Amino acid sequence: LAKIEIKLGDIPEGKSITFKWRGKPLFVKHRTDEEIETELNVDIGSLRDPEADSARCENPKWLVVVGVCTHLGCVPIADAGDFGGYYCPCHGSHYDSSGRIRKGPAPLNLEVPAYSFPEEGVLLVG
Ligand code: FES
Repeated sequence: LAKIEIKLGDIPEGKSITFKWRGKPLFVKHRTDEEIETELNVDIGSLRDPEADSARCENPKWLVVVGVCTHLGCVPIADAGDFGGYYCPCHGSHYDSSGRIRKGPAPLNLEVPAYSFPEEGVLLVG
């Protein structure tokens, strides 16, 4: 199956860039220290789909998720919504900077694909 290699130096801090991977959007977000801190401090018990930020982001600087809303499959908008991550305009689902569902009808967090960092500054997804 197809893999995609992404040069992380091209993604400015605080930004989420959209790539195309296996026919779907792939969001790669370069998180700021403030965003990392915020996500680490979320009470996991309060989440609809409880997952620790550390379980979703192998390297806290980088969030890697499939850009498909878990409600009915629309593509969320990056760097938008009430929780600083993604906002799906179809029916109003808000995801945080860890890609976790925080508000709206979506049942699950954005999917984290298999990925690795084969060398400094390089992300390999797939
Ligand atoms: Fe995203 Fe319905 S498809 S909120």
